Amino acid sequence: MNQPTEPTIAIDVYRKRRERVLAALRAAGGGVAIVPTAPEKLRNRDADYPYRHDSYFYYLTGFTEPEALLVLDASAATGDPAALLFCREKNVERETWEGFRFGPDAAREAFGFDAAFAIGELDTHMPRVLADKPALHYALGTSAQLDGQVRGWLDAVRAQSRGGVVAPSAAHDLIPLLDDMRLFKDDHELAIMRRAGKISAEAHLRAMAACHPGVREYELEAELLYTFRKSGAQAPAYTSIVAAGANACVLHYPAGNAIAQDGDLILIDAACELDGYASDITRTFPASGRFTPAQREIYDIVLAAQQAAVDATRAGATFDDPHQAAVRVLSQGLLDTGILDRAKFGSVDDVIAGRAYAPFYMHRTGHWLGMDVHDVGDYRERGAARDEAGALPWRTLQPGMTLTIEPGLYIRPTEGVPERYWNIGIRIEDDAIVTANGCELITRDVPVAADEIEALMQEARVAHGTRT
Ligand code: GLY
Ligand code: MN
Ligand code: MN
Repeated sequence: MNQPTEPTIAIDVYRKRRERVLAALRAAGGGVAIVPTAPEKLRNRDADYPYRHDSYFYYLTGFTEPEALLVLDASAATGDPAALLFCREKNVERETWEGFRFGPDAAREAFGFDAAFAIGELDTHMPRVLADKPALHYALGTSAQLDGQVRGWLDAVRAQSRGGVVAPSAAHDLIPLLDDMRLFKDDHELAIMRRAGKISAEAHLRAMAACHPGVREYELEAELLYTFRKSGAQAPAYTSIVAAGANACVLHYPAGNAIAQDGDLILIDAACELDGYASDITRTFPASGRFTPAQREIYDIVLAAQQAAVDATRAGATFDDPHQAAVRVLSQGLLDTGILDRAKFGSVDDVIAGRAYAPFYMHRTGHWLGMDVHDVGDYRERGAARDEAGALPWRTLQPGMTLTIEPGLYIRPTEGVPERYWNIGIRIEDDAIVTANGCELITRDVPVAADEIEALMQEARVAHGTRT
C-alpha cells in the first residue's frame, strides 16, 4: 500500500518547533516533555468518529496517525535522542483493513525524529527515559489515561531507587509554553490559514447562490460541505450553523430541517478545517435575495460594528479594543432604531456602562483562531499587575496573532422592542491576521456589503432561472 504523498511534510517546520520547546525546557532546568495525540473515539457499535489528531501533538510533529506520543528529552545525555516518537508498528493485516501506517522506522525518517519506537514499547522505554531526569512536563490533569501512564512510569523508576536511580522530582504544566508558541502563527501556518479562508469563502458564495425561498437548511449545509471536500479540506472546523428566520437567534443552532421562507434571513456560520487549521466565517443574507428595510437597518449596524472592530485590530491595541469598538456601534444602533428606548436607557455611554445591549449582543467580538477554532492562548497578560477589580490587563495584539471579528445582533420577540425587528438574527464574521499597522482579512472572498450580497444573489438567480 502506498504511503500518502500529500500534503508534503514540512519536516523543518516541525523540527524547529520541537527545538524551541527543548531550548525553553533546557533554560528552565531541563526534564522530559510528553505530548500524546488524541485517542480514537467510538461513535456507536463498530463505527468510530472520524479521527482527529491532537492539536498540540500535531503542532510539534505533523504526524496524523492515532496511537502516537512525542517525548522531548531536554536532559538527554550527549548522543542520546532528544526527540522520540512512539507510534503504531507496521501491520500488514491491519493496513489491509485501515490503510497505510508509517511504522517507527519510516516515521523517524519522514518526520525527522531522533528515534522512534513502537507504541507498545512505551512502558519499556519510558522508565529508562525518565530515570535521573529532574522534571516532567506535560498537560497536567487533562487526561486520566496519561496521568495513569505517568504514575506507572514513575513507579517503575522509583523501583530502581536502590540502584541509585532517581525519579523526576517535579511536574510542570507544558501547556502555557505551547499555547504561547501556537498563539503566534508562523508563515507555514498563515499560508494554510489563508487557503482555508479562501475555501470557506467559496463555500459561502456557493450557499448564497443556491439559496431561494423554500430551500431547507440542510440543503444549504450540503452546498458548504461539498465545497469543503471538493477543495481538499478534510472536514468542517466545527458543526455548521445554518439558521433560517428566527433560528438565527439561537447562537449555536446546527443546520436543521427548517424551510427558508420568503422574507427570512439565513445565518450561516460554517467553515472548513484544512491541513489541521480552522477557518470561521459567518454571513447573513435574505432567502429571497433582497433584504427587507428592517433587516437592512440591522444588517448595516452590524456591518458598521464589524468595520469599527476591524479598524481597532492592529499591533499595539489590546484584545478587548475591537470588542469595545463593536459594542459602541451596536449600542448606538440599538438606540437609533428604538430597540433600546432612549428615555429609559439614556446615552450610548449609559447603554455600555449598564450592559443594556447584552440581551441583543451576548457574545464577545472575537476569539483566537488557529488549529482549534477557539484557539489556545491567554486573552490576558499572565503575570502582569492586576487592576483594582483584580483583573489582569487584556493581552496586547502583536503581528502574527490570528483572531475572528464577529459582531452580531439577535432580536427575540421582546415587549418594548418594535415588532418589525423581531426574530432578526445577524452575525458577520471574518478571520484576521494582526499586522503592524492593522489586520489582513483572509475571508473576504465572500462579500459582506448588503448591496454586493444582493447583487450576487440576483446574478445567481438569473443564471439558474428564478426558483421562487
Ligand atoms: N463558529 C464558532 C464561533 O464563531 O465562535
Ligand atoms: Mn463562527
Ligand atoms: Mn468565531
